[in-house]
Amino acid sequence: MATFSPELEERFRKLLASYPHKRSALVPMLLYAQDEIGWLTPEAITAVAERLEIPEIAVREAIGYYSMLRTQPAGRYHVQVCTNISCLLRGGERILQHCRHRLDGAAAGSGGGEEGTFSLEEVECMGACSWAPAMQVNYDFFHHLTPERVDQILDGYRRGAPPRPDPAYPGNGAAPAEGKGKPRA
Ligand code: FES
Repeated sequence: MATFSPELEERFRKLLASYPHKRSALVPMLLYAQDEIGWLTPEAITAVAERLEIPEIAVREAIGYYSMLRTQPAGRYHVQVCTNISCLLRGGERILQHCRHRLDGAAAGSGGGEEGTFSLEEVECMGACSWAPAMQVNYDFFHHLTPERVDQILDGYRRGAPPRPDPAYPGNGAAPAEGKGKPRA
């Protein structure tokens, strides 16, 4: 049985009280659990299923549907590079190759390269098409990428001085939600 922090248990409690049907809390619970643990372990899946009083297979089906949910370990900084159409047309593939080169050995599911500091994943559109090419590091967004900018960003995380992320939606000045974008302890 997975044990979660008291803070996460409190979040779960509030979530379960917020919906008329417990099952509606499934995806947010999985995201919060993943944020805390780093990935969705078999024990975490069992624990979520028990709290929601649904079969474990239903939890696994949801995980299989949502690509942001992981059943494999990731690095402390999970780098997601978009190569969907807008990003592809503006150099997304080059950015991905550059990240592969810079983060040699880092791949989602490998536990992360550089002794678990980074993991790398090619992803579909993340809703930043107007500012392509784009990538995401944990919950931090970065836009209008060039290989040089990618180097600055990755070096910042590597040094323990993460760069200031771009607003999730440039133009409205929205800052990342409190607590988002921070690496796991
Ligand atoms: S195509 Fe890359 S963010 Fe939409």
